[in-house]
Amino acid sequence: MSEDYWPRFEVTEGDKEIPTIGYLDWYVPRLEENRPYNLSLSGMQYDWDIEELMKDTVYDIANHHIGALDDPRINVSKREGVGVENVVICHGATQALHVSVCAAMAMSNKKTNNITVESPCYAPIVQSPQLFNHPTRKVTRIPADDGPWRIDKVEWLAAIKDSAILMVTPILNPCGWDYHPDDRNWIVQTCKDHEVIIIADEVYIDSKREHSTYSPFHTLGEHCISVNSLTKIYSLGTLRYGWLISSKDISEQARRAFFTLSGMMGSPTLRVADSIFPNLDLAINKMNEFRNKNLPLLREMLNKMNIPWNEPPYGLFGAFKLPLEIDAMEFVDNECKQFGVLAVPGIMFSEKLSSWLRVSWSIEPKLFSDSLINLEKALLLAIIKKTSQ
Ligand SMILES: Cc1ncc(COP(=O)(O)O)c(C=O)c1O
Repeated sequence: MSEDYWPRFEVTEGDKEIPTIGYLDWYVPRLEENRPYNLSLSGMQYDWDIEELMKDTVYDIANHHIGALDDPRINVSKREGVGVENVVICHGATQALHVSVCAAMAMSNKKTNNITVESPCYAPIVQSPQLFNHPTRKVTRIPADDGPWRIDKVEWLAAIKDSAILMVTPILNPCGWDYHPDDRNWIVQTCKDHEVIIIADEVYIDSKREHSTYSPFHTLGEHCISVNSLTKIYSLGTLRYGWLISSKDISEQARRAFFTLSGMMGSPTLRVADSIFPNLDLAINKMNEFRNKNLPLLREMLNKMNIPWNEPPYGLFGAFKLPLEIDAMEFVDNECKQFGVLAVPGIMFSEKLSSWLRVSWSIEPKLFSDSLINLEKALLLAIIKKTSQ
C-alpha cells in the first residue's frame, strides 16, 4: 500500500505542525535519480536562448529594475487584454494562490472563513489556506471514461453555501481535462449567488489559448480570480514569475498582500521575464509540435496494451488507470525504475487515484518515443507479475 503522499484536507486535531507537501517529498528524490526516460514533467520542455533574447542586458540582471523596466504588469495586461490595475505580479502561481486567499478573505462578505477546495489537486492549493488557519472542505471531480471529469452538483452546492472561497484547477492535474462547459457555468453562477469568491489555478490554461472553449475565470465575473505563471506552458518554473488577474478591488487587496508577504519582485526574475514576454508564442508553437508528434505514439501504445485512454484535446499531460488495479506508486518505484522511466502516480493528487498514472508528452519527440518503448516494457512486466500472483 502506498504511503500518505496525497494533499491534506484536514489537520489532525491537536497537531500544530505544518503538514508536509507529500508530493515533493516523493518526487524530488526520484528526480534526483536522473532516470533517462522522464515522462513526469508537468511543464513544457522548451530551451529558451536567454543570451540571444537578452543580449548585453543579461549583465544587468542583478541591478535594480525600477526606472530601467516598464511596469511589469503591462506585459500581462497586454497579452491578456485586461487593465494594468487588474493584474498583480508574484513569485510564481503558488505565491499567487497565497496572495489570492488573503485578498479574497479581505473582500469576503461571508461570516465564515471556510474554503472549499477541489480534489484532486496540487497539494499547495489545499494546504496554503491551512497556513492561515482557514478550515478547508473537499469537493471532487469524478473520473470519466470519455471527456471531462464531472462534478456532483449536490456535493458542491452544500460546500459552496458554507464557504467564503472556492479554489479550483480548471485544467485538472493529473487528468488534463478542463471543466465541461455546463459545470463551469454552474460553478460560476452558484458561487455568485452565494457570494463566494473563486480562485482558479490556471497554470495549464494557455495550452488551449487557441481552442474554442478557452475561457479563463477572470473573464467570467468580478468574483473570479485567475492565477497563472510562466512555469508550465512557458517552461520557466525556475524564474518564479506568476500573476493573478481579478477585479480592481480584489487586485488592490492582492497587491497589498504581496507587498506584505514579499516586498518586491526580484530584478533578475523581472528582467528575464521582460525579454521573454514578446516571444511566448515560441513555446506554444513548440508545444503544439510536440503534441502532434508524440500523442499518436502514446495512443498506439496504450491501444496495443488494451488500456483505455481518455485524451484531453489540449495540454501537456494526461492520465490513465493501470490495469488489474496495479498500484501506480509501486509501479513507478519498481518496474518503471527498472527500465529507467519516471512518471507520476495519481495518488500524489488524491488518495482515490492509487491506480492512476500521469504521463506527460511535452518532451522532445525522440526522447518521448524511447521513453514509451520503456514504459511499455515496464507495463508488460507489471501485468505479468500481477496476473501470476
Ligand atoms: C496546478 C498547479 N499549480 C501551480 C503549480 C506550480 O506553479 P508555479 O511554479 O508557478 O508556482 C503546479 C506545479 O506542479 C501545479 O500543478
